[in-house]
Amino acid sequence: MSTSVSTATLRGRDLLSVADLSADEVERLFERAAALKTEDHARRTSGGLVATPLAGRTLAMLFQKPSLRTRVTFEAGMNQLGGHAIYLTEDVVMGARESVRDVARNLERFVDAIVARTGPHEVVVELAAQASIPVINGLTLREHPCQALADLFTMRERFGDLRGRVLAFVGDGNNVYHSLALLGAMLGLEVRLATPDDYGPNPRIVERATELAAASGGRLVFETDPTTAVRGADVVYTDAWTSMGQEAETEARRDAFARFRVDDALMEAAGPGAVAMHCLPAHRGEEITSSVMDGPRSIIWDQSENRLHVQKALLAELLAA
Ligand code: CP
Ligand code: NVA
Repeated sequence: MSTSVSTATLRGRDLLSVADLSADEVERLFERAAALKTEDHARRTSGGLVATPLAGRTLAMLFQKPSLRTRVTFEAGMNQLGGHAIYLTEDVVMGARESVRDVARNLERFVDAIVARTGPHEVVVELAAQASIPVINGLTLREHPCQALADLFTMRERFGDLRGRVLAFVGDGNNVYHSLALLGAMLGLEVRLATPDDYGPNPRIVERATELAAASGGRLVFETDPTTAVRGADVVYTDAWTSMGQEAETEARRDAFARFRVDDALMEAAGPGAVAMHCLPAHRGEEITSSVMDGPRSIIWDQSENRLHVQKALLAELLAA
């Protein structure tokens, strides 16, 4: 399915980047996610029937890297909406046993949508170009759009209006930062990044995020000192220093990022209202301390839960009749 931005409907579209959506579409997704969350909590506490708008629909999940949250929230989400998900890992290494194009040509005949987790972003772009069904990016080295949607939804729950809120990302200028910068810029936030030299973001993403910020009144800020970056922030956000696929650089990255740990002192520097966020998986004692993760300012577990509700909203919008 080719990707085109429209405000009419998400039905049949791809989600490869958060920038494939408009601010209005994100707001609609958030409203639907909030309703689904209320419904899910009611079901858990008092039981009862819930709507199954995706009855009979199937999602193929092509995962070429490990996952806890993305896998389980997509599978559970499809199931809760009345549909079914099929998890495919080493059976289908796109470009090895079969070409990306041939994988797409088969899956589009069997299922209604694909979520793919790959290394290179180009693989999901090609998959989407070749498949006539929606393709969702479940993480590439360039972006993690479902994560950023859940994160900004979590901030909206916490703070209400997002415009002018400050998200300070401390660490690697990676896939998670890229999606947060694009979405934050689109929604009018100030998104700060504190990262060491040589670990900055992709300049093309920064360029696009800068355009989005110019249109929304948002702002992008770049620092090399974490304490300066977090001062007055609403959210202090971090992610692993070494992303999946970069394991050979682990030692070098540990040295480079040693000053970029989110600990109690950094949260103190941020100010009394700041909360801590992390996309997970966390490396306790490296990029974040247990004291912050498990402390009163952490909204990390809400953030993780919200992957489920936001992705259910996305699936319902992409696939419902
Ligand atoms: N945050 C996230 O995407 O987690 P997983 O890698 O476990 O899916
Ligand atoms: N930046 C991390 C995110 C994991 C959810 C990675 O790509 O491994």
